[in-house]
Amino acid sequence: MSPLSVRNPHEDDKNDEVSADAGETIGSLLTEIDHIAIAVNDLGAAIDNYRETFGAIVEHREVVDSDGVEEALLKVADSYIQLLTPTRDDSPVAKYLVNKGEGLHHVGYRVDDCAAALEAVKAQGHRVLDEAPRPGSRGTTVAFVHPKAICGTLIELVEE
Ligand code: CO
Repeated sequence: MSPLSVRNPHEDDKNDEVSADAGETIGSLLTEIDHIAIAVNDLGAAIDNYRETFGAIVEHREVVDSDGVEEALLKVADSYIQLLTPTRDDSPVAKYLVNKGEGLHHVGYRVDDCAAALEAVKAQGHRVLDEAPRPGSRGTTVAFVHPKAICGTLIELVEE
């Protein structure tokens, strides 16, 4: 864990048992911001825009067939900006772009144990989009929490 990590201020120590203790607050399950995902119409143009404006460089590109998206990850400290574009019309991101246009799509919160974090969310009675963890990009394990569940933001729990 890097000292640059975004820590929960309520988490005083780096006790490895935090993630296993799902009965505690959900906040203590979050270890870092994994990524900020931004839906874009033209991935190449968005990459150029970020490079020209901020000098941000793509570290990883991947097509995630299960989600119908192609993503480009731009590293910022220990987190990523994830530029996301649909690869097919029935992709949730395609629908998002039609309805809302380009912009913030979801936030990825890094967790030590995706299954434990997901169970903690469900135990609070919150609606989830993934009943069980599944493969994400970069070999991660992920699960999405419904945006209506927690403060109007689509949340992705990401275990590296
Ligand atoms: Co994501």
